Amino acid sequence: MTASDHALRYDDVPYPALVHPATHPRVIGAMATLFGLDAAPPDRCRVLDLGCASGTNVMSLAADAPESRFVGVDVAASGILRGRERARLAGIDNVRLEVGDLSADLDLGEFDYIIAHGVYSWVSPALQDRLLATIARHLAPGGLAYVSYNTYPGWHLVDLVRQLFLRQTDPEAPPLERVRQARAVLDAHIAGAAEGSMQRAILIHEQQMLATASDPYIFHEHFVAEHHPTYFEDFVAHADAAGLTYVADARPNHVLPGTQPPNVAAAVAGLKDRVAVQQALDHHLNTRFRWSILCPKGAARPDLTVAPEALARLHVSLPRNRELTLLEDGAEVHNAMGRRVTVRDRVVASFLEHLYERSPSSVPLVDLVDLSDPGGRVLGGALVGLFFSGVLSLTTGPIAAASTLPERPRVPLLNRVQAQLGEAATNRLFESQLLDDVGHRLFPLLDGTRDVAALAAEIGEPADLVEGLLRVYVDVALILP
Ligand SMILES: C[S@@+](CC[C@H](N)C(=O)[O-])C[C@H]1O[C@@H](n2cnc3c(N)ncnc32)[C@H](O)[C@@H]1O
Repeated sequence: MTASDHALRYDDVPYPALVHPATHPRVIGAMATLFGLDAAPPDRCRVLDLGCASGTNVMSLAADAPESRFVGVDVAASGILRGRERARLAGIDNVRLEVGDLSADLDLGEFDYIIAHGVYSWVSPALQDRLLATIARHLAPGGLAYVSYNTYPGWHLVDLVRQLFLRQTDPEAPPLERVRQARAVLDAHIAGAAEGSMQRAILIHEQQMLATASDPYIFHEHFVAEHHPTYFEDFVAHADAAGLTYVADARPNHVLPGTQPPNVAAAVAGLKDRVAVQQALDHHLNTRFRWSILCPKGAARPDLTVAPEALARLHVSLPRNRELTLLEDGAEVHNAMGRRVTVRDRVVASFLEHLYERSPSSVPLVDLVDLSDPGGRVLGGALVGLFFSGVLSLTTGPIAAASTLPERPRVPLLNRVQAQLGEAATNRLFESQLLDDVGHRLFPLLDGTRDVAALAAEIGEPADLVEGLLRVYVDVALILP
């Protein structure tokens, strides 16, 4: 399949216009900072997004960082044209979207952050080489790259479903009709699979994963012609050959063995090599996807450090959906995977309470702890522990969102344009939030000039419904402070 055949598939069925939270420079930068690297400040940096589709991700970053410069490149021209129009409507002038083919010698300049989300596993091995070479060539000396990819062993099981879809649907059917057939085939095979069988368990698990997935996503994930999941250690070796060193994954909960279930942590405890530890974790956890951060080979060797200078650069926040219960001697809080984490320290519990009240906005870590004091550094270390346990977020830039409903609610212009175009809105946490019909009509009016009564009158809906909806938007971090 040539690059232009490939582009056609993305021109025919546009990839969903979504953002990917772990690609944010403030997220990548925080992990790299904890691993002893110097990350460019997220409000003054140069960012390249390779395989950016219609550029929603790179453009949402650009909208929030007017002093930074952004470039998005994709081989599918229709997405780039849609993206340019969206940028024009939203008045975003610090992003450049280009039609470009990774198989050519792209020359785009030098970047502090390079993002390639959803590209590496979905192109041919030859193009995977080109992708990593393009990253290595464009990365500034202290730069950081983010590459996501499907992994084995998890994908060995998912492949059961992909093969079912590929072989038991009509290859001549139009793309979205084929996805409809695939969903029906999956239902039929679950109904036919023996109760208690391994096959049934796998199929049901995938059915649950796909229940909330959009049809275009399923098409590009399961019907893409080139699909090459990889073992983590093979990816690291490939990156190394391209002149890139593995730093850590951008999602914290997979990084440290100590935050895994005790039997898993014990099983990998004897392994010294970082790559071997991560590969062993993938076998224990049946990992199917990774979000890997890379730096140029020859930069400082990444090593986990909780040095005060590193901590001083971080902002800490507690996402609003973490249930927090204060106890006599500490607190109980849910982490990102919904597991309960117990904190047996009253001071750390009081930090959690403070962050919960400010949530979803962040607080500079130095506002919570005195890093010049040994006790303060221990508390800082405890907060880093809660980050790697998936409880807290750490970022190199602040997060600011309303925690209560303002009298005249306001969202960024980009969100108003996204709503008008029928797209999901990027929230202050850099997540995509789907809007319902009322939301699509309400959002374009949220420019900070109207109160609830005026908004309700203008869209012809009851005021209590509009107010309820706005409170939901506050909860999901869509409203500006
Ligand atoms: C699965 S999509 C991911 C899109 C986007 N990064 C995201 O995650 O939302 C893969 C993207 O890579 C692009 N792509 C594939 N081959 C390419 C090539 N040779 N050069 C440039 N872009 C390519 C596709 O057009 C498509 O937009």
